[in-house]
Amino acid sequence: MRQKIVAGNWKMNNDLPQSISLLSSLVSKELHNEVKVMVAPAFPLLYPAKEIVKESNIEVIAQNINENKNGAFTGEVAASMLKSIGVTTVIIGHSERRAIYNETYSVLAKKVEAALAQNFRVIFCVGEELDARKKNEHFSVVENQLAESLFQISENDMKNVVIAYEPVWAIGTGETATPAEAQEMHAFIRTKIADKYNNAVAESISILYGGSVKPDNAQEIFSQPDVDGGLIGGASLNADDFTAIINAF
Ligand code: PGA
Repeated sequence: MRQKIVAGNWKMNNDLPQSISLLSSLVSKELHNEVKVMVAPAFPLLYPAKEIVKESNIEVIAQNINENKNGAFTGEVAASMLKSIGVTTVIIGHSERRAIYNETYSVLAKKVEAALAQNFRVIFCVGEELDARKKNEHFSVVENQLAESLFQISENDMKNVVIAYEPVWAIGTGETATPAEAQEMHAFIRTKIADKYNNAVAESISILYGGSVKPDNAQEIFSQPDVDGGLIGGASLNADDFTAIINAF
């Protein structure tokens, strides 16, 4: 059985009081006990967030890391720093990082390696832009993203990888891939993992869907055989909505 995961990507939202209020509300909810729940606050809130959720099964994760170990990289955060405060999962390759901060295939490959070197779990994001989908190039875009930044790692390291398929045109737009479109891409990703590694690896990796997942569409998306959970942006900022998505499994 693959692990079911629902991860909330808060992006650059929630200051300290807002984080405390959202997390306090979340820890008081009945959350599906077979779902691994994660939340990704901004860097300064990671430590206080961990304090608030420490009696719960909620894991606090990071939205980004720098690809270097340490040194003269003003404004950046290393995996080892996160590890020292007990954060050991990181999102890498989110489309906003790729598009706004010009994170290239090679930088992302280095980030993946930097995280795995510290025994992190990596949530590696892939997904095509609208234009590519219209031109029917979505499979080749995702295939390249996997090949260029993820498939250099060993089979053993793949055990610490979760993939999130997030079509860029569905992020924050209210538009979701249909459950069939999500399933089709998730199955394609699994095939590519099997081709590169083997079936056992492909079958064991959780593949999350992201892009305008809401309480009213989560159940249909999560019911697809190759969808193992979700990476949730907007709806993770509201405790009731996020809970409803977690409990949609
Ligand atoms: P959204 O964001 O749920 O607001 O569309 C998803 C994401 O960017 O991870």
